[in-house]
Order: sequence, then C-alpha cells, then structure tokens
Amino acid sequence: MSGKLVIGNWKMNTRGDGARELAAALLADSATNREGVGIAAPAVYLSDLARQLAGGRLALAAQDVSRFAADGAYTGETSASMLADVGCRYTLVGHSERRQYFGEDNAALLAKMRNAAAAGVTPVLCVGETLAEREAGRHLAVIADQLAILTEIAGDGYVIAYEPVWAIGTGKVATLEQIAEIHAFIKNWCLQNTDGSDKIRVLYGGSVKAENAEAILATKNVDGALVGGASLDADSFRVICQAAGNMI
Ligand code: 13P
Repeated sequence: MSGKLVIGNWKMNTRGDGARELAAALLADSATNREGVGIAAPAVYLSDLARQLAGGRLALAAQDVSRFAADGAYTGETSASMLADVGCRYTLVGHSERRQYFGEDNAALLAKMRNAAAAGVTPVLCVGETLAEREAGRHLAVIADQLAILTEIAGDGYVIAYEPVWAIGTGKVATLEQIAEIHAFIKNWCLQNTDGSDKIRVLYGGSVKAENAEAILATKNVDGALVGGASLDADSFRVICQAAGNMI
C-alpha cells in the first residue's frame, strides 16, 4: 500500500476565484502538492482546476458521476468519460448527501462505480450509517448492505470511505474505537466478499480536522481521510495532509 490518501471534498462551496486561490495555496505547499492528496471540487470548476493543477502532483476528483455511460439525452448529467476527459483521477460515489437528497440507491451506485472504473476514474464509494441506524444497533447491517454492490465489480480498482452520517458536518467525530471497529469490519467484509484482497483502501470521513487528524489517521485500518469543511481552509487541510504524509 502506497501511503495514506487524503481527499478534500469541497461540496457545493467556492466560486471561481476562491477555488483558484485555494488550489494555488495547495499547489505551493509540498505537504499538499504530492501523491496521495486530492481535491473533489464542484463540477463546473473541474476543467479550470485541471489546467491549474497541470504539472503538479495534487489529484483532481469529482463529487459525483452519472449513472449513464454513453452520451445522450441526460440533461444535467456529467459522464465518467467527461470526468476522465478533464483529468479527474477520482470521483466520489454515493456520498451520504447524495443518498439523502437525491435518493441514490444501490442500482444507481453500481452503475456509477462501473462507469467511473471503465473510464479510468477511480471511484470512492462512500458508506455510513445514520444516528438512528446506529442507535438501533443496525449499523453493521446497513454498511454491509451499502457494500453489497462491490460483489458485482471485478477487481479492486476502487476506494471506500466510511463516513458515519451523524459525524458529517456536525463536529461530532466518531471515537477511535468506533472507527477501528468499522474499518476492520469493512476490510474483513471485502476480504470475504470481493476479489480485492487487502489492497482496498478505506478512508475515514466525518469532522476530520487539523486537531484530530493525526490520531484518526494512526488508527488501525484507516488508510486516509475524506475531509469536508476543513478542506476549504488551506492551513487546516495542510496540517491534515502533513499528518498523513508523515505516516507513509
Ligand atoms: P465534514 O468533514 O465537514 O464533516 O464532512 C465530511 C464529508 O462529508 C466528506 O465527504
């Protein structure tokens, strides 16, 4: 395994100038402008950012990809080949906000995973339980159900991100024990149900900040982080990436 992977998910934030400024700050810093760091920017800014990042080592990622593969009458959609065309190395798939607000289900997510992989864009499948599901003791079953699409995919050309919904944007981070438990569960599940062996990387996401990144990234089976709010601040993101870089 080649070091930890940290991806900043900007979500629906920034404007052109702010995106360029943030990218410039990340490019100017060796802790962030390196292999193993990526930014998932809003779709409208991807090609602009791709030009800016050209020659750097920071990877570009999309936040979503269409479940439709071929060009055609799919108003509003961005295909995997378009993402590849502008230079995206990764795309998030099935972020909990997409599951919640856009009703994305396993059938759509499987298509997205396949389209991304076929276009050479590594999908990052996001999984995680809600607070109600955890309190009902159903979190492992929920996560297993979300992972189930991976049994339909050959090989291990994807990344998984565990993001407990109750820890996203709430400042409420999962405990290191909870993180270790779920990451071990996901890795075991993959060993038993996919042909991906132990190469599949599992990132943690949910209120990762400069202050807690080191402890989270040092937790067993945590192969990196998916960072929301803190990735919009170059200084915070740098500290998180530096913590990851120190653990290679
Ligand atoms: P926060 O880091 O803002 O909690 O967001 C996490 C997330 O959803 C990343 O995809």
